[in-house]
This record gives sequence, structure tokens and C-alpha cells, in this order.
Amino acid sequence: MIQNDLFLRAHRGEAIERYPVWLMRQAGRILPEYRAVRAKLSGFKELVETPEFATEVTIQPVDLLDVDAAIIFSDILVIPEAMGLPYQMIEQKGPWFEQTIRTQAQLDKLDTDIDVQERLWYVFEALKQTKAGLNGRVPLIGFAGAPWTILCYMVEGHGSKTFSESRKLLYTQPILAHQLLQRITDVTIAYLKGQLAAGADALQIFDSWAGILGEAQYREFGLRYINQICEALQDVPFTVFSKGAIASLPEITQLPCTTIGLDWNMSVPLARNLVQNHKTLQGNLDPCVLYGSPQSIEQETKKMLNSFKSQRHIVNLGHGVYPDIDPEMVKVFINTVKNYEITNNANS
Ligand code: CP3
Repeated sequence: MIQNDLFLRAHRGEAIERYPVWLMRQAGRILPEYRAVRAKLSGFKELVETPEFATEVTIQPVDLLDVDAAIIFSDILVIPEAMGLPYQMIEQKGPWFEQTIRTQAQLDKLDTDIDVQERLWYVFEALKQTKAGLNGRVPLIGFAGAPWTILCYMVEGHGSKTFSESRKLLYTQPILAHQLLQRITDVTIAYLKGQLAAGADALQIFDSWAGILGEAQYREFGLRYINQICEALQDVPFTVFSKGAIASLPEITQLPCTTIGLDWNMSVPLARNLVQNHKTLQGNLDPCVLYGSPQSIEQETKKMLNSFKSQRHIVNLGHGVYPDIDPEMVKVFINTVKNYEITNNANS
């Protein structure tokens, strides 16, 4: 039994007393308590791969910020690693892959018939320990990267402003791109099913680089694979967050999932009009609002809340919280949501 199940009820479109709120990247560098755990270790990967530590930092924002959901501390890049493409997380720089996938020969070198339980045991173990540690206080979210975003890192080998190697592949070797996307999709489905079995109450797909593709390309190389993932996981509280894919919103809202994540550039009235009350919307405050004064945070948060006009709303930022945001300002945001009278504007 989950004591505070507002987040799950909002996913399903059931009645709620107030809007649930959590933040993407809530388990991380904004919290001094996270940095203290991290400082004891050799690096980011040791934290991800040691279930006791991953559990500790997953629960921190529940204790310290009083959010309505926990998200398991891990990274989307565990999937390429499980497929045979290990990554390093370089301090101040970000992810780095020694090898990349740009040719058929490189694709053929990836592992097949992957046993996700064996390769990603540490994520499943962290989920189990977190579930026990939370003791039913709030739901636990599992996650994965969307196939397109994972392809971006596997092809590029690191972050990029343009991901031009990845986009180039779609024009020069579309068959190779589809093969890689299908392989990522298959592993991701097994991984997400494993996360549910290990205790995740809800799932989210992060398509961080959705917005760099045009509408037709995102349909072919993005949504086609997300659709397969959604179909394999029906009846689960499931959020698809396709950052920046503004033109694709009509198609995204047709996916067989319960919830659509919106970034701060997406039109809330348009999204609401598309989903009506058949799906829940999540988002979408500009993370930069949290650099402002408490008064302006309160004002901007209320403006955002007023725009959603339905109880099918899970409150979040429009992307991950930036690491230099003051946790006190995060609390102002959270408290504004918690004190907001739901009857003000909800019509369902
Ligand atoms: O609190 C949570 O949301 C759970 C943990 C989480 C992390 N990464 C931890 C992390 C989640 C959900 C992610 C997802 C993720 N990882 C995404 C999708 C979301 C998004 O932001 O668009 C992407 C693109 C990645 C890949 C990744 N991981 C990059 C590009 C970087 C470097 C940039 C950065 O933020 O430092 C990471 C590292 C990373 N993942 C950190 C954390 C807390 C920072 C590493 C550290 O502690 O030093």
C-alpha cells in the first residue's frame, strides 16, 4: 500500500485533493546531501552501481524536499553499456564512450541476447532497496532513455550541440539506424519490465533529443519505437517526455501511454485540447524560474498551474532542475503547488 498515492491517481485520471509534484533530476547536485555521498566515492558510476548509495540518494529528495514521488537514481546510459558499449562520466564534461556505432561492422560487434537481469542487476537491486526504504511513503518511478536519444549517444560518443553524426546517419544509413533503434528498443522493453518487477510503480521515457528531428523524421526514427515500448507496457502509469518535439505533439498525444511530459516551450492549451481528459499532462515550469525571487517563483508557478485546467496534471519543471538552483527555491515551488486550491480551475 502506498500512503501518498496522489501521483498514481493523477496518472490514472482519478480524483485528487491537490496536484502531485516532483522534479526531474531531483536526486542530484542541487542537494548538498547528494554531493556529500558523491564526494566519498570514486565517481558517478560507483554511485549508480552501488545499490546502497543509489538508494540513499533516491530517498533524499523525499526526506528533504517532500516531493510526491521518488525517481530511481541511475542514468539512461546504462542501456548502451548493457549492450556492450561502456561509458565513462567525465567530471565537468559529461558522458564519454570509447567506441561509437557508425558502421554495420560496429553494430555487429554489439552483444546480442542480453540478459538484462544479469547486466543491470544493480538497478533492480537499488529499486528493491528503495522500495523497502520508502516503506510506502510515495510511489517510485523507473525510467529509461528513448531509443532515439540513446542512439544519439551511441553514435556521437558524447554530448553535442547538434548531434550531427546521429542525424547524418538517418540520411546516409537509414537501415543501420533502424537496426540499432530496434535493438535498443528490445533491450529497453526488457529493462522496463524488470524495473516493474523490482518494484517501480510508474515509468518514464526521456527523449531528451527529440526536438532536433523534423516532424517526419521523428515519426519514423523516434515515435515508431516509443510506440512499441508503450504497447509492451500497457496499463502502467507511463510518461513519455519528448523534449522539444513541439510539431509532433498531435502524434505524441496519440501514444498508448497514460501521461505526456511537456517542456516549457510547449503550449499547454494545445496539449490539453489534444488529450482532453483521456491523458494526464506533466510539467512544465521553465527551470530558470527557480533562479528568481520567492515572490516571482510563486507567481510563475500559479500562472503555470492555472493554465493546465484539469485534474489530470502532475506538476514538474519543463526539464531537469539545474544543479546550481538553491534547494530553498525548489521548496518555494513545491509549497506553492501544495497550497494551490485544486477547485480553482479543474473542470474534471
Ligand atoms: O533525479 C533524477 O532525475 C534521477 C537520476 C537521473 C540522472 N540522469 C542522474 C545524473 C536521470 C533521470 C537521468 C537521465 C538522463 N541522463 C538524461 C535524460 C534527462 C535529461 O536531462 O534530458 C540524459 C540525457 C542523461 C545523460 C547524462 N547523464 C548526461 C548528459 C550527463 C552529464 C550532464 C550533467 O547533468 O552532469 C549525465 C550525468 C548525470 N546523470 C548526473 C546525474 C545526477 C550528474 C553527474 C554527477 O553527479 O556528477
